[in-house]
Amino acid sequence: MSVPVLTTGKLAMPALGLGTWPLRGRDCEAAVESALGLGYRHIDTAEMYGNEEAVGAAIAASGIARGEIFLTTKIWYDKPDGASFRAAFAASLERLRQPHVDLLLVHWPSPALNLPSVLTALAHLHAEGLARAVGVSNFPGALLRQALALDIAPIACLQVEQHAMLGQQALLDITQPAGIVMTSYTPLGKGEVLEHPVLTGIAARHGATPAQVALAWLLSKKLVAAVPKAASAARQAENLAAAKLRLSEADLAAIAALPKNRRFVNPAFAPAWDSPDA
Ligand SMILES: NC(=O)c1ccc[n+]([C@@H]2O[C@H](COP(=O)([O-])OP(=O)(O)OC[C@H]3O[C@@H](n4cnc5c(N)ncnc54)[C@H](OP(=O)(O)O)[C@@H]3O)[C@@H](O)[C@H]2O)c1
Repeated sequence: MSVPVLTTGKLAMPALGLGTWPLRGRDCEAAVESALGLGYRHIDTAEMYGNEEAVGAAIAASGIARGEIFLTTKIWYDKPDGASFRAAFAASLERLRQPHVDLLLVHWPSPALNLPSVLTALAHLHAEGLARAVGVSNFPGALLRQALALDIAPIACLQVEQHAMLGQQALLDITQPAGIVMTSYTPLGKGEVLEHPVLTGIAARHGATPAQVALAWLLSKKLVAAVPKAASAARQAENLAAAKLRLSEADLAAIAALPKNRRFVNPAFAPAWDSPDA
């Protein structure tokens, strides 16, 4: 099963990847091995997930050439300056048993974030080849614009929650013209949005599943990738097959018309999100 690759001047990312939160240990290793066996070539992990060792072990065990796999990690928000960010990333690379990652993200902005300092660290890690591409996650529009205006690091990706009930149009209006890939996290809405009758109806018409419809809607957008998490090979295969589902204009419009205000990931330390949540 071949997945389209989103190619910009700054990265080449398979549009569908495997999310690994909250898998850990042997379960994570087995899930990543299974996904790689099915044809996934994009794996999403993070320092905070506590599974980088398992992800690294699965990649090593797969026997797949490292250059064929797109590996993302993220550094947690308690490293708000360049020095602590760099040190944490060095430890991530060790746990992953990797000389580099394909994408390194600032996981969340924190109120203590020293933006120029962390962007400078990203720029250096990129220049040193330790992070082939760099970006940010959970940045609201104003902060993303600020990071882009500083022009310190070559921001290639914004990873945010995005699904049929949270469209993130305001952020897409920034990322798409800037040639920045948006990676959708929680693309299945934790499984909850899949019960919506609009999704189940479209799925039935296509002989597809609601998860495939939810993912195909995201992948229909310019420069959008998605990292659904699935522990079992059956669901991983189901999600991967979404890459070949083509929805009609009417299907896309029906999903676009759903309310876009459902946010599943909103921890106490989250920034003030853009309003309205388009
Ligand atoms: N940057 C960030 O701050 C951030 C935040 C949250 C998540 N993420 C990333 O995004 C990834 C995905 O997000 P998520 O895990 O929050 O949510 P998600 O991918 O939207 O949903 C995962 C849930 O959906 C179930 N599922 C998977 N495939 C399914 C299918 N075909 N049909 C029905 N249910 C299905 C999974 O169950 P089973 O596994 O049991 O199949 C799991 O319970 C994470 O793993 C992580 O890598 C990043």
